[in-house]
Amino acid sequence: MPTDMPSEPYSPSTSGTPDVEHPRRIRSFVKRAGRMTPSQENALEHYWPRYGLELGQGALSFSNLFGNDHPVIMEIGFGMGDSLSTMAATMPENNYIGIEVHRPGVGRLLNNLATQELSNVRVFCEDAIEVMAQCIQDSSLAGVQLFFPDPWHKKKHHKRRIVQPSFAQDIRHKLSTGGVFHMATDWQPYAEHMMEVMEPAQGYSNQAGATQYSPQPDFRPSTKFQRRGEGKGHGVWDLMYQKEC
Ligand SMILES: C[S@@+](CC[C@H](N)C(=O)[O-])C[C@H]1O[C@@H](n2cnc3c(N)ncnc32)[C@H](O)[C@@H]1O
Repeated sequence: MPTDMPSEPYSPSTSGTPDVEHPRRIRSFVKRAGRMTPSQENALEHYWPRYGLELGQGALSFSNLFGNDHPVIMEIGFGMGDSLSTMAATMPENNYIGIEVHRPGVGRLLNNLATQELSNVRVFCEDAIEVMAQCIQDSSLAGVQLFFPDPWHKKKHHKRRIVQPSFAQDIRHKLSTGGVFHMATDWQPYAEHMMEVMEPAQGYSNQAGATQYSPQPDFRPSTKFQRRGEGKGHGVWDLMYQKEC
């Protein structure tokens, strides 16, 4: 069962002193305050054994995990998970790996999965960077979804944005050829940042054509943060990049 995330910045060193070989890595998230509802607590207790995955399991065999060879789509930062469970229910021909550090969101997703008796989703309550490094085999994913990632508005925080050149290549290594890295944001400066990172990124092609945004595809439901952004008058930008090699 997932435990509360530490409030201190991540450091692989366990000694409490800085580890020169493993300097503190900048994280793309902060622990958000948020009380678990009794229903979310209950879901974590009862449904984690069925849907939950742990870093300690190491590199995953998707065919063992799901009992089939359907394409696997990984979603990073699913928030409350409603769009993920909707996609899993409407596209049973796909399998989904959801990753989120916010426990109330994990609890809510588990509730939705169990209520709908979905069997094509598994969930990590971990930093997606660690999950990719330890548990996802290279060239194994048909898609990666990153919907409305934390925009880190202030310039001094831009280094916390998860979309960076090295991240784009980490994702590419996990995608199979032809697989798609699908991003969406309601924050125009982050959309432009994503475009600046992805256009020159090695091994990808923009499905909409160079420097173009994609229309929101019918298969992508609106998310909680999308609706929040639209309520503030923000636009929505989708970017879809296919792995060429
Ligand atoms: C702005 S919210 C968007 C949530 C959801 N995708 C939506 O559109 O409603 C971004 C989410 O990404 C999660 N997140 C950020 N960095 C993450 C990481 N490295 N690993 C896992 N989750 C992360 C945060 O906890 C947060 O819930």
